[in-house]
Amino acid sequence: MNKIEELQSKIKEAMLGGGEVRIASQHKKGKLTARERLQLLMDEGSFEELDMLVHNRNRGITTDQEQFPGDGVVTGYGTINGRLTYVFSQDFTVYGGSLSEPHARKICKIMDLAMQNGAPVVGLNDSGGARIQEGVVSLGGYADIFYRNTRASGVIPQISAIMGPCAGGAVYSPAITDFIMMVENTSYMFVTGPNVVKTVTHEEVTSEELGGAQTHATKSGVTHFACANEVECIQNIKTLLSYIPQNCEETAPVYPYEPGNELREALNTLIPASPNQPYDMKEVIAHLTDADSFFEVHKDFADNIIVGFARIGGRSIGIVANQPAVLAGVLDIHASVKGARFTRFCDAFNVPLLVLVDVPGFLPGTDQEWNGIITNGAKLLYALCEATVPKITVTTRKAYGGAYCVMNSKHIGADLNYAFPQAEIAVMGAKGAVEIIYKKEIDTAPDPEVRTNELVADYTERFANPYLAAEKGYIDEVIMPEQARAKLIKGFKMLENKVVNMPRKKHGNIPL
Ligand code: HXC
Repeated sequence: MNKIEELQSKIKEAMLGGGEVRIASQHKKGKLTARERLQLLMDEGSFEELDMLVHNRNRGITTDQEQFPGDGVVTGYGTINGRLTYVFSQDFTVYGGSLSEPHARKICKIMDLAMQNGAPVVGLNDSGGARIQEGVVSLGGYADIFYRNTRASGVIPQISAIMGPCAGGAVYSPAITDFIMMVENTSYMFVTGPNVVKTVTHEEVTSEELGGAQTHATKSGVTHFACANEVECIQNIKTLLSYIPQNCEETAPVYPYEPGNELREALNTLIPASPNQPYDMKEVIAHLTDADSFFEVHKDFADNIIVGFARIGGRSIGIVANQPAVLAGVLDIHASVKGARFTRFCDAFNVPLLVLVDVPGFLPGTDQEWNGIITNGAKLLYALCEATVPKITVTTRKAYGGAYCVMNSKHIGADLNYAFPQAEIAVMGAKGAVEIIYKKEIDTAPDPEVRTNELVADYTERFANPYLAAEKGYIDEVIMPEQARAKLIKGFKMLENKVVNMPRKKHGNIPL
């Protein structure tokens, strides 16, 4: 064999990973291979592989382990939508994609390159966790990755796709990254699997129930996206990247946009006259943003709040919006954490924020109090106070009590605050307020119900409006709803060069 043939033979061997039988088994499970996934993810012909020939010689507790060039992970760089991206894709056909020391080193190498060159890292995870034969060096490899994930947090975007099992310590690298995507029916995330759960807690639970995509999309909120299949998952990664910059020093790409008639008359009638009648805030979002540009994040979790990316006049924004169609848009623990996490991503990566407000307050009750609505609600408050990106608020209807302050009020640093004429900005709703401040008068009235109704009507007339806030300058302008889109396009353009100098500090201490 001459030198050229020798190289060709080595490449051929590496391309097969764990071999044809295991590739067939991967396909039988409805999963693509590590290389097939990369082919779908990266722009055609752009992928440059590194460390294809890395070997794992004479390691671990047995020395007779079968050797596979590449050692269970394909790593490298290329472009996605024409933009530089670093990737790793774990190869389940090699020891179940488990993480050995060389496997970890390969991942660390591309993470270091990504940090030095300011570009995102996308991880396609499909791994049985630590390479059991290797013992502590495998654990060390995980820790090397966690450390880099944390160092890179807020510097370059990090996206994790879970495309197979993800157990033990393997869940913590994705957990530190910015966004997690899971694939329905073929991906799992848990700290300990069903067998350990049964031994320790005597619960009988399937992998799907314990840590499948639906579980983490709806119950725990661990995953931001539950994708129907791997192709959809990869498409979601590409879409997500299109809204965000390459690193914390840059801004997101601007898309072509033809200015036209921005009047949205439908918005004038979308908010119901009765403050208790629900409506879908997503319809408001659709009217305010560029056509079909809203990309929702965390769709199936805490849907009393909506978060996601969109474009307005071609520019990327992040949206945090109360959803009056679900639990009247109340803020609870999950909604607060969801809103806070998204806000912090946008702020870290220079994505301006639009906050849409229709919120009756924080959810009362022992469940919420005992589980820490105080600390968790404070996360959203902290995140919005902390954010220095351009911030615009539109109050479409209710803004009551503490939730008024929290939802990007002028006082916590919003740059522009608009309100629709239907807005009610007050300490609380009319009935609750009247029952407290006129308690004695109502108790002694000949007909308490009639008197209550009179007082509620009076309070509503005097306080349930946006004008008291506008008189103080807390609302910059009460606008016709139909004008909202035009105002936002102009407003975000006006704020495009916003600079805020923060006091020097190591880092803040968000209430965790
Ligand atoms: C070495 C492993 C492995 C592992 C799987 N394999 N997991 N090899 N280390 N962790 C190998 C199998 O021996 C098998 O080899 C091949 O991968 C495919 O595995 P199967 O079991 O046949 O596949 P499947 O039925 O799909 O089940 C996948 C699985 C299961 C659910 C991931 O393999 C499993 O439970 N693995 C162990 C998971 C685990 O306990 N990991 C350690 C977690 S502790 P052949 O030769 O047959 O192809 C941890 C600590 C990290 O990660 C802490 C960091 C802080």
